Amino acid sequence: MPDTDLVPFEPPDYASLRAAFRNVIESYPRALYDEQHLVRYRTWFVDSVLVSVPELIHDILVVRAELFRRDDLAQRLLSPLLGTTSLLTAEGADWKWQRRVAAPIFRHEKLLALVPIFNAVAVRQVERWGAAANERPVDIADSMSQMTLEMIVNTMLGGPGALDVQKFTRALTTYLDSFPWRFILSMFRAPWLPYPGRWQTARAREHMYREAARLVAQRRQTPSASADLLDLLLQAGDEETGRMMTDDELARNLVTFILAGHETTAVALTWTLWLLAKYPHVQDQVAAEAQTTIGTGSIEAQHIERLTFTKQVLQEAMRLYPPVPAITRQPLAPLMLGGEQLTPATQVTITIYPLHRNRRVWKNPDTFDPDRFAVEQIKARPRYAYLPFGAGPRVCIGASFAMIEAAVVLAVLVRAFRFKVVNGHRPHPVARVTLRPRGGMPLFFEPR
Ligand code: HEM
Repeated sequence: MPDTDLVPFEPPDYASLRAAFRNVIESYPRALYDEQHLVRYRTWFVDSVLVSVPELIHDILVVRAELFRRDDLAQRLLSPLLGTTSLLTAEGADWKWQRRVAAPIFRHEKLLALVPIFNAVAVRQVERWGAAANERPVDIADSMSQMTLEMIVNTMLGGPGALDVQKFTRALTTYLDSFPWRFILSMFRAPWLPYPGRWQTARAREHMYREAARLVAQRRQTPSASADLLDLLLQAGDEETGRMMTDDELARNLVTFILAGHETTAVALTWTLWLLAKYPHVQDQVAAEAQTTIGTGSIEAQHIERLTFTKQVLQEAMRLYPPVPAITRQPLAPLMLGGEQLTPATQVTITIYPLHRNRRVWKNPDTFDPDRFAVEQIKARPRYAYLPFGAGPRVCIGASFAMIEAAVVLAVLVRAFRFKVVNGHRPHPVARVTLRPRGGMPLFFEPR
């Protein structure tokens, strides 16, 4: 499937601050794509190492994971909303016990029980779109964002109506849009300085926290009929210490799960649908798999395993457009990495976007080819060459949740509609924590 049109941009050679502000992935040097490489740059305000070597990534995230922590920059960006003790932001023992508490909720069999909820939300999306089909392009980035938030609300937070989904999505977008400014100010260690939209950002953050705290308080008073994830978090004590989560920890974790779980999955689905629109024969294969596996009825848990090609399409889409385009860390103490002496101040960035297009690992890296994720091909590659969900102890806890949810959504949507690109529209990936298409993702669709 040769395709030159798919190459969204050629990275510039010089990692400029301006490029980092506009879109951090554009500041990654070419070496990270061409060779397996480690790039270091130091200025008076930053000491940074960029890594796209599978062996070194294995070292950082797995072998010596205990010697690294989440970096200061990420903490400064996330902690105003998530605090410093949510699953995403906590460190050491504080993190460990929360991970132990949350892990059982994300076990495969528990997630398969959520398939009817995923199916119902996706079917509602089909009904909503049914009337609008083929009239004018629809921004599917926006639709996916609202749909995946609905998924989280319906599986975790007590079902339809628990949150005003549109209002929450708007608040989240406002919050994420402030990241470039806050990123720069944090880099200069001046996060208190004013920036455009600061008050809207603060209001958006307060709205999200207040809503999460309201859900926790409500649930304390009125237990839900069906045990959802919030219930499980409320009841779960640490097996080793018996400690339970406080209301603040619960609220911060709810926002964490919403933030970490909904935008990432929305972005993954958005890029996948665009790629399918661009490659109609692959789209037809996904539709055929859904039709033969599921027929015309509802998707059920036993179908998930058989949606093999659909999952390969998702994996390949997340290779080309990783929803989390970089993972960052800082060493806890001085250490050597790939011949470089790092200090506790060195920011280590695992550059997933270049890693997934590295010419040494991937043949024709800019080509969309779901067959790369056939079992034999996966086995032939270095394990740490593909990391949409990270790796090691802090690997995404919601990876299976996301894969099951996204497979259901794709099967239901592609079974119902044929998606088509809007001529002349070439989406451009921009990193705003997640890898969003700049200006949205308009697509046409018609009933199949
Ligand atoms: C396609 C969808 C998703 C992608 C690409 C994704 C990606 C990631 C990545 C790369 C990390 C590791 C970050 C690091 O090491 O610094 C991570 C962590 C995390 N993810 Fe996901 N994620 C997705 C969906 C979800 C979902 C659905 C949930 C929850 C329902 C979730 C919850 C979390 C949490 C809580 C963490 C922090 C885990 C920890 O530090 O122990 N994610 N995710």
